[in-house]
Amino acid sequence: ERKCILTGDWQNDLGSNMTISAVNGAGQFSGLYLTAVSATEKPILVSPLNGSQHVDNLEHPTFGFTVKWSFSDSTTVFVGQCFTDDHGKETLQTMWLLRVKAKSMDDNWKATTVGTNVFTRIKVQNM
Ligand code: BTN
Repeated sequence: ERKCILTGDWQNDLGSNMTISAVNGAGQFSGLYLTAVSATEKPILVSPLNGSQHVDNLEHPTFGFTVKWSFSDSTTVFVGQCFTDDHGKETLQTMWLLRVKAKSMDDNWKATTVGTNVFTRIKVQNM
């Protein structure tokens, strides 16, 4: 089965793009995320991501990364796993938690949302 290293360009089911740069020997990586949607009214900007993946066993590795949104006060964490089908096509099956900034602790209960995203590898324009 084909190995899965996260380095490269990916697009998810919302149309968001991310570019992950080289994964180091410890499995750590950084990258850039351009979301297609936002919970805010602010203009969307490319935002940095940082994460790590298992590199000890590259068959269907699990990973996680954090996006620190550069245009809002929010933070998103993604966890996921890379799968390869019989034709070598890779998909990242992920779940995320999006934390928006609550005005006060009274609003804490509504400050975190959860969802899923599926990413496939693409060739994208430079961000
Ligand atoms: C914000 O709204 O403050 C920042 C943008 C959040 C975008 C979310 S993160 C989870 C989901 N997956 C995406 O690709 N975009 C949305």
